[in-house]
Order: sequence, then C-alpha cells, then structure tokens
Amino acid sequence: MNYLKKPSWQLDEKEITPKELFDKRRSFIKLGAASIVSSTAIVEALAKENLPIKNLKYNEAVNNNLELNTYEQITSYNNFYEFTTSKERVKYMAHTLDTNGWRITIDGLIDKKIEIDFDDLIKKFTLHERIYRFRCVEGWSMVVPWVGIKLSDFIKYANPNSKAKYIRFETLFDDDIFPDQANMLFPAVEYPYVEGLRMDEAMNNLSILAVGLYGSSMPKQNGAPIRLIVPWKYGFKSIKSIAKISFVEKEPLNTWQKSNPKEYGFYANVNPNVDHPRWSQKRERVLGKFFKQKTLMFNGYEKEVAHLYKGMDLTKYF
Ligand code: MTE
Repeated sequence: MNYLKKPSWQLDEKEITPKELFDKRRSFIKLGAASIVSSTAIVEALAKENLPIKNLKYNEAVNNNLELNTYEQITSYNNFYEFTTSKERVKYMAHTLDTNGWRITIDGLIDKKIEIDFDDLIKKFTLHERIYRFRCVEGWSMVVPWVGIKLSDFIKYANPNSKAKYIRFETLFDDDIFPDQANMLFPAVEYPYVEGLRMDEAMNNLSILAVGLYGSSMPKQNGAPIRLIVPWKYGFKSIKSIAKISFVEKEPLNTWQKSNPKEYGFYANVNPNVDHPRWSQKRERVLGKFFKQKTLMFNGYEKEVAHLYKGMDLTKYF
C-alpha cells in the first residue's frame, strides 16, 4: 500500500452529518430542489464547508420513504471477516484500514488494463443518494442512506467488450491492514474476498458502487473507500474495500459459494420462499427493532429486478 496524504474529500467521523440534519435535507430534496452536480463539486463542498453532501440526484421511486437506521447502528454491527468475526468489534479494529492512495485495478475483457487512484476515479462520475433496505443472509436487516456511483456508469467508463458476461470484484489483500489475512483465524473464508454479478444485474439501475453513507465518506468498518451495494441480494454479495474489478466470460466463484456451496450460491437473491439449510428466511429483525418483520421477495425490489430471473428456478439458482 501507498500511504499518501489524507484526500480532501475524506471527513473525520466527528464531522458526520447528524441524523436530524440529514432528515431535514432529505425532505428538502424531496420537494424537488435537487439537481445533478458533478461529484467533484460535492467533494469540494464537503471539504470546504464541512457540509453534508447536497444536490444529489434523489430517486423517489427507489427511496420509498423507508425509515432509516441510525449512523451509530449502521457502523457498530458489521460483518468484515478480514478484521474479525465479531460484529461488535469491527469498528474498533478497522482503524488499520488506511485508504489514502487507494488504487483500483480494472482489467479483463477491456481494451487496456486501467490502474487508477480511487480519488481520480470517483471524480469522473455523478454521485447518487440511494436509501436502500439491506438484508443479511443471517436474518438481520437495516435501512441505509448510501452515496455512490451507478455501477452502470462505471461499466460504460471501463467499456468492456461483448465477450464480457460477468463482472468480478476483489477486496484488497494486505495483511498489514487486515489482521485475518495474516492470521487466518477464521479459515472458512479464503482471501482476497471475491464477488461477482452477471452483466445485466450489474447494469441494473439499483446496483451501485457506494463511496459513503449518511452524506459522508464510507466508514472503514463499512468497507471504505468503495464497496458494492446490490440491495435485492443478501448482504454478502456487497463486497467491501474493492481493489480490483475484472470483466470476465465465466461466472466467478464467489467467496461464500467456494466456502460452502450447499449453503451459499452465486445469485443470493433475497427470497423468503427459499430457506437457508439451517434457518428460515421468511422473517428478519431490523437493527434496533424488537419484533421481526416479513422478508420481502427480492428484498422489496421485485418490480425492478424480477425480470432478470425470468424462467430461472430460484430454488436451484439460490
Ligand atoms: N466484504 C468483505 N471484503 N469481507 C466481508 O467479510 N462481509 C459481507 C459483506 N461484504 C464482507 C464483505 C457480509 S456477510 C455482509 S452482511 C456485509 O458485507 C455487511 O456490511 P456492513 O458491515 O456494512 O453491514
């Protein structure tokens, strides 16, 4: 890893938008005052004024008036095995994740391999605010206001050729940063963590590469500086701290499928009708709520994504 100075857009945790301010801004945006501005402008505004990200494109259809989980809840209960299997401890261990000078490699079925600084990459795109349900395969869920770039915009920029049928993501491998990559105390998972999507799933409007939440840059425990978010799939598809993105012909073998193919597949679509071999997927507990609620087909995004799986037996392609 290259340790460079702190980039201008990166805010400290104490500078995070308070939830009340965020909610106020959200209702302002809903009034229709939002317009699209370049991510550079947002980054500059953030750095200069220490303000929440503003003027993001607000998508009423997907944001759905969901009740948000708090910043505290979202950043205090994490799955990030490269640090630890304890969800409560990730936030105390994630300080070693230094994202300064973070590089991303883009390769595979494209004209020419690209190696680019994360800071330079995100400046090329419009940032979007997306409030999504997030459902873990373990049966808990939350609602998160992500900030990210559309994966389809990224794909247009990378410009893969027609042989590319899948997109494959890899988390950084660096055992100075991630203690479990050195210790392998949790040997069920092999590193680097890998995930993949079919190209039409990746091009879907809901798929984003998230670079922040609650109007600020991505907290380390949530996968700084950039992670995948595919809200109709179980949380394990949403790979964190991405360092490599490849366009490939064959379906990538994702980490959890490799680790336990009987329990975890490639698709991992949220589906209350297909139980996990060891527990039911019919209900879920939203972080901070006492009573469980019903899990929705495709996590509530059926209208947007069901067509991608037409004719597929979802008990087989789980
Ligand atoms: N990405 C990496 N690199 N390592 C991980 O352990 N865990 C996955 C996913 N992405 C994981 C990962 C799982 S199981 C879940 S549920 C989500 O991240 C959790 O995201 P969160 O901590 O932001 O809630």
